[in-house]
Amino acid sequence: MANFFPRWTNSLPLKIVACIAVVGGGVSAGVTYYFTPKYTRVGYEPSQPVPYDHQLHVGQLGMDCRYCHSFVEVSGHANVPTSETCWNCHRHVKTTSPKLEPIRRSIDPTFEKYDGKPVEWVRVHKTPDYAYFNHSAHLNRGISCVSCHGKINEMPVVRQDQPQSMGWCLDCHRAPEKNLRPLDEVFNLNWKPSDENRGDFHDYVAGKVGKDRANTLVPMAGEDAKKDLTQKEIGGALKDVWKIHPPTPNNCAGCHR
Ligand code: HEC
Ligand code: HEC
Ligand code: HEC
Ligand code: HEC
Ligand code: HEC
Repeated sequence: MANFFPRWTNSLPLKIVACIAVVGGGVSAGVTYYFTPKYTRVGYEPSQPVPYDHQLHVGQLGMDCRYCHSFVEVSGHANVPTSETCWNCHRHVKTTSPKLEPIRRSIDPTFEKYDGKPVEWVRVHKTPDYAYFNHSAHLNRGISCVSCHGKINEMPVVRQDQPQSMGWCLDCHRAPEKNLRPLDEVFNLNWKPSDENRGDFHDYVAGKVGKDRANTLVPMAGEDAKKDLTQKEIGGALKDVWKIHPPTPNNCAGCHR
């Protein structure tokens, strides 16, 4: 992080210069404040109009994130479900629960308090408008929800698990191999590197970059070959195979467009 300042002066977009001018003298203090993971909304856990429980629906009932957050892998923005999604089940299950009244109010014309208005969920995570963030660009590159939102499948109430500050984005962008995983495990929040089979993974890598390179990235001989796969091996190989290059501080415009 120490090399921030020299680079800034080279490639500052105008908008950001203006932004810094406004912040003025506070900048040097601000740099440490904003650009370290300690600047934090971690733990923010607003109460919601309906006590919807991810631990129950995902952890116990086994629902996939995409059942409700249906646009997350195809669009920049993740969506929160409409009452109709809940109503698919709750027109049959727990129909008279007082906890579900706000859902019925918005979707069930037979309910005496029906008004047809959408439920107003309280937003937990929010990136400021001047920073560009895209969900699908991350999910389709092997970054799981769990890297950015924590173990949602174990949360009765959603809380912010990671700082989501600029310093936090950059920590991963500098070393994405620590978080890359096979694409079919992106929605599996319980996945571990040791779940992968070494031989199968090696074959996948060899299919993309050839046998010689694959043997270096994912050894199939010697002591290492007997061990469980590690994040270092998996992440390192995928970074190579997919040619991962996220925007870093020498590309401010990658995130400030
Ligand atoms: C049955 C529907 C449903 C499923 C399945 C579901 N969610 Fe949600 N999710 C919601 C609703 C409703 C909210 C808004 C209320 C809240 O925050 O609890 C929400 C909120 C969230 C938020 C916070 C959004 C914000 O405001 O910042 C995150 C993050 C999230 N879900 C991630 C996940 C992940 C990851 C999975 C899969 C492991 C998942 N959800 C599965 C319904 C669902
Ligand atoms: C796939 C079916 C399914 C979907 C979709 C679903 N739920 Fe549920 N929900 C259940 C089941 C099953 C239970 C547990 C019922 C029980 O405890 O016997 C439950 C329980 C609940 C409860 C607790 C009710 C009580 O009185 O204890 C709430 C609140 C709730 N769900 C809200 C929601 C919301 C909000 C959505 C939409 C974002 C949603 N559910 C979507 C199946 C579903
Ligand atoms: C690389 C980090 C990252 C990953 C991976 C990620 N998210 Fe997010 N998520 C964010 C950020 C940052 C925001 C705030 C975005 C904004 O304000 O535009 C957010 C916001 C959300 C929201 C709130 C959107 C809204 O408009 O209310 C939901 C829901 C959500 N994420 C669900 C998910 C689900 C489900 C997954 C996995 C399938 C996932 N996210 C994976 C970083 C991530
Ligand atoms: C856990 C790791 C991780 C975190 C955290 C993360 N990213 Fe990324 N980001 C990646 C990876 C991997 C890519 C894909 C790079 C590629 O395709 O070469 C990427 C790509 C991007 C891109 C380029 C793709 C596009 O959408 O145009 C942008 C912009 C970006 N990230 C912004 C952000 C922002 C803003 C944050 C913080 C709010 C963030 N990222 C947090 C790993 C991460
Ligand atoms: C990986 C994406 C990413 C890159 C690259 C990036 N930023 Fe940021 N930046 C962000 C995000 C996200 C925020 C908002 C952080 C928050 O909400 O706390 C931010 C916030 C800022 C702010 C704080 C504004 C304020 O006071 O709230 C400034 C100034 C800034 N960036 C300048 C820069 C400069 C200069 C560069 C190039 C050296 C750069 N950024 C590169 C993602 C990025």
